[in-house]
Amino acid sequence: MRLLPLFSAIVLGLGSVAAASADDAPAPAPTRVAVRAAHLVDVKAGTVRDNPLVIIEGERITEVRYDGQVPAGINVIDLGSATLLPGLIDCHVHLTGDPGEVKGDYYEAVLKRGSIDSAILSPIYARRTLDAGFTTVRNLGAPDYVDVALRNAIDRGDIAGPRMLVSGPPLGATGGHADDTTGFSPLIEFHGVEGVADGVDAIRHRVRENVKNGADVIKFMASAGVLSAEASVGAPQYSQEEMNAVVDEAHRWGKKVAAHAHGAESIKMAIRAGVDSIEHSSMIDEEGLKLAKQHGTYLDFDVYNDDYILSEYAKKGFPASTVEKERLVGRLQRENFQRAVKAGEKMAFGTDAGVYPHGWNAKQFAVMTHWGMTPMQAIQAATVNAADLLGMTGKVGAVAPGYYADLVAVSGDPINDVAQLEHVGFVMKGGAVDKNEIKR
Ligand code: ARG
Repeated sequence: MRLLPLFSAIVLGLGSVAAASADDAPAPAPTRVAVRAAHLVDVKAGTVRDNPLVIIEGERITEVRYDGQVPAGINVIDLGSATLLPGLIDCHVHLTGDPGEVKGDYYEAVLKRGSIDSAILSPIYARRTLDAGFTTVRNLGAPDYVDVALRNAIDRGDIAGPRMLVSGPPLGATGGHADDTTGFSPLIEFHGVEGVADGVDAIRHRVRENVKNGADVIKFMASAGVLSAEASVGAPQYSQEEMNAVVDEAHRWGKKVAAHAHGAESIKMAIRAGVDSIEHSSMIDEEGLKLAKQHGTYLDFDVYNDDYILSEYAKKGFPASTVEKERLVGRLQRENFQRAVKAGEKMAFGTDAGVYPHGWNAKQFAVMTHWGMTPMQAIQAATVNAADLLGMTGKVGAVAPGYYADLVAVSGDPINDVAQLEHVGFVMKGGAVDKNEIKR
């Protein structure tokens, strides 16, 4: 109550400033621009259309035409023989860290650096991600709300980066995948905001803290993991009651829930609890695939990760147990990805970038097509499907009137060779050109 007069004064103050400037200077008409290319991947229809002209006003697309007519007096960005696509979406990244920071000594990185270091470096990773054609990302886990600050700086236009949905510190059990002190001396303490919460009440409180501090989405650890010190890689780490509490509380606040889950049992428990997506999905079984379908749960499989972890992590000085755990899930995850594709599951593109270098996100497309998806399905996973999972249909994930003008272009043909998406030559976010290296 004591704060109320001050609060109203601030609100009133801002209101009068806004009113004064509106009276003095009418807002300028939004700039109109058009982007022309030889082809457009229509991800909603699952087809490629020729000779597109995308007309943009300010941040949004107003019209897409194919008749070759250019409205008078409009500036055209001509991409020649290139193929246009909607800006790509990665549903699972960690922009607050990169394996490039770990140069042979894992414990140097863990013990001598903290979230302040993450905050210094994360704008670099945001920029790399945007330059790679990913105009929207969901950041699933970050220390001390560095992700919230990063998202806000990008939204204000202070720094360049993709649109971000963020989770803040992920929830998880004591001793589990979200607990940073697991494996260290019991006398060592890390300071900062922790996602660790045990029991229904503590979990509800943690969800509320994350919502209060700016989270768009709630992330929790339904199972053990690879890059953490517990012995198992897939054992459930919350009871059914605890998982139900995460989802019930998050949904009450209008937030979707992403569950990290490798193990078959943990995946089923999380689906039964009502999560919106399963992350990793590595050991999903037949019953899990059925349940996901019944519940309409999205499955994310970060199927590129295995290559990078197995080739680089030992050299970087990660504990041998981590690399051993990766061997338990990597291959299995790809086989189960293939089963999920065959079963016609709802699938979205999520890479866990940050485990491997930012900007390499598109390397996962080729793995997805190698393991059973068509290039169009892989592209849809990273556009229309991803937008649906994020609750952003109508805003991102397609090139259509009313959508943000988030566009990318490649010189090659991504439908014949999906790896072309590793070489995005043109990136536009919200009508602003981030880069244009397309050679005409
Ligand atoms: N963040 C995940 C974990 O630590 C990475 C798993 C990577 N492995 C894989 N096969 N996708 O559990």
